[in-house]
Amino acid sequence: MNSAAQALYEEMQVSLGKLVPDFELYYKAEIAIEINRLKKERNAVVLGHNYMEPVLFHTIPDFRGDSLDLSRKAATTDKDIIIFCGVKFMAETAKILSPHKTVLMPAERAGCSLAESITAADVRALKRKYPGVPVVTYVNTYADVKAESDICCTSGNAVAVVESLNCDTVIFLPDQYLAANVAQQTGKHIIFPSIGGATPDNTLLDVQMIGWHGRCEVHDKFTVEDIRSIRAQFPDVVVVTHPECSPEVVAASDYSGSTNAMIKFVQESKAPHYLVLTECSMGDNIAAANPSKDLLRLCMVHCPHMNMITMENVRDSLLYTKTVIDVPEEIRVRAFSAVDRMIKIG
Ligand code: 13P
Ligand code: SF4
Repeated sequence: MNSAAQALYEEMQVSLGKLVPDFELYYKAEIAIEINRLKKERNAVVLGHNYMEPVLFHTIPDFRGDSLDLSRKAATTDKDIIIFCGVKFMAETAKILSPHKTVLMPAERAGCSLAESITAADVRALKRKYPGVPVVTYVNTYADVKAESDICCTSGNAVAVVESLNCDTVIFLPDQYLAANVAQQTGKHIIFPSIGGATPDNTLLDVQMIGWHGRCEVHDKFTVEDIRSIRAQFPDVVVVTHPECSPEVVAASDYSGSTNAMIKFVQESKAPHYLVLTECSMGDNIAAANPSKDLLRLCMVHCPHMNMITMENVRDSLLYTKTVIDVPEEIRVRAFSAVDRMIKIG
């Protein structure tokens, strides 16, 4: 091992030694040094979502954060190449915002159950059914769906985006739980129409949010029963959830917010025990940053897509310029206005 890798390994022993076995730190230190060298050579920037595994998360991204944060970074970088350590809809958003950069995704098949739940044709059908009603689309969608939308949102700004529209009715796609959580916070009602079927009885007069039956396959698995049984075992536990969880799970928790907001909440709270209901690796990353706090995690639930990103495939994406993410220009310009409107909301 060269001296740079040795120094990184020793640094990681301090920050991650209680979470990651020593031989893994040793093995990954060399890969991290190689990636950081390739980044300089290729004038690349690495963006890493909060769900990345702890060693990758702590050693190679130039910027870490939630979807909103990373899309802002993607819009302003001056590097030639953006490597997105996240899933396909995130890399596509980077390409929408930075069309002249090369955007690379280390694991080409890293998708998302929410993004898969809706197509551009579905959105067009909803627009025909509810003409003139603005379409708010969660960023966890592919570019062609964004292109059919008026404005995007993330979990970090969904309430602000819906409120910014200042109108009685919005179409909110595709996460049924996020829609329900936003409806609760904004005091709106919500319906889920069946495309091609009969229009529900409670028509536009009564309806303020029109949703879609998409779910995150990870957050869908957490239940109120999980929270009850953990509270029974650890009575002083503070439960933190992502708004992609069901409204019942959110209501049973002490705090709900985007991945950045969850991290900040734990950092700023004084309680000794936390249960973080989201992708398990983020619990590791919070634990590493807060060594005096106990982090309980339900690690039987992992995001299979986020978990496809590894140190090895990040290195290979830099070495072999793969996998290049492209968005057809006609779709990109329309998707850009929806994403840009969201970013401007702040
Ligand atoms: P954030 O925008 O909160 O980081 O969420 C992204 C995501 O995919 C959550 O499952
Ligand atoms: Fe999609 Fe859920 Fe995975 Fe996030 S955690 S990428 S919403 S499947």
